[in-house]
Amino acid sequence: MSRPWFRARAPATIANVGPGFDVFCLAVRGPHDVVAVRPASSDSLRVSGIDASSLPSGFTENTAGIVIETMRRRTGIRAALEVRVAKGLPAGRGLGSSAASCAAAALAFLEAFPKARSLAPLDILEAAVEGEAAVAGRHYDNVAGALLGGFVSIASTEPLLLTREPVSPRIHVAIAIPDLVLRTEDMRRVLPREVPLADAVSNVGKAATLAIALVRGDAVLAGRCLEDRFATPHRAPFLKGYAEARDAALRVGATGFSISGSGSTVFALAASATAAQRSAKAMADAFRGVGGNAKAFATGVDNAVPLRRLLSRAGVRFTLATR
Ligand code: HSE
Repeated sequence: MSRPWFRARAPATIANVGPGFDVFCLAVRGPHDVVAVRPASSDSLRVSGIDASSLPSGFTENTAGIVIETMRRRTGIRAALEVRVAKGLPAGRGLGSSAASCAAAALAFLEAFPKARSLAPLDILEAAVEGEAAVAGRHYDNVAGALLGGFVSIASTEPLLLTREPVSPRIHVAIAIPDLVLRTEDMRRVLPREVPLADAVSNVGKAATLAIALVRGDAVLAGRCLEDRFATPHRAPFLKGYAEARDAALRVGATGFSISGSGSTVFALAASATAAQRSAKAMADAFRGVGGNAKAFATGVDNAVPLRRLLSRAGVRFTLATR
């Protein structure tokens, strides 16, 4: 009899959410990755789905394999594993594709090995970040969002201090994914090392107010707070159609617009499902208008907690801190 698979899924994520560079993340409903594992006589890994041929399938190079190896090291569980990564997220588009594979790999490992559930939630986050760091630089936002769902705000990474809130269903999201790959590593290199004081003040004010607006369900206030003066001015020039997509979304009723993570995906917030659908279409049309192409859809925040195995007693509103 063949051995059973242990499966887990992790959602797409919008990192930064405008002013919260490396700090904020929203999990979104819809596209996701699935990782399945089962004990085997030797390690193997296979990737299928979107952009599978462009991703490494070596156990030690693939983000999911790196996370599994880290989980084994941390738990002392040495079982060889057969790993299947089913990609529902395109790579290099700013939707947390690598983070979703990392999170799903860690979650699948927890499904397979009950002993591993003695790890603390932050140990799982650290293990999953190892995979992200190997391909996209060490940042925690996408991985935290993919593991915890909802809205995550990271106060610090050393020591780790983060908080997680569900987002009001009154906040609607429109997403447009252009046919353009922007590698996170490259998009991090274009950022300045220092920001002027006035820009720092603007981002802090917008980020703090955005967090309140998302939880309160005030889509108008949230949209007004998406302005980012840290990363967006340096990244938008690489994204043909950025200004056109922004203007088009705002024209049809979006309350705000920004780049998802390091791009190329863009997103808009809206106060109704209809306005989000209109915004998605307007953004896709705008990219086509400049000779590009984009897939677009309307969705909402995914408030489920993928890491619920370890957090079932924490509810949906919790803080995690290094002890
Ligand atoms: N915070 C990261 C960045 C997210 O903007 O570089 C990458 O998806």
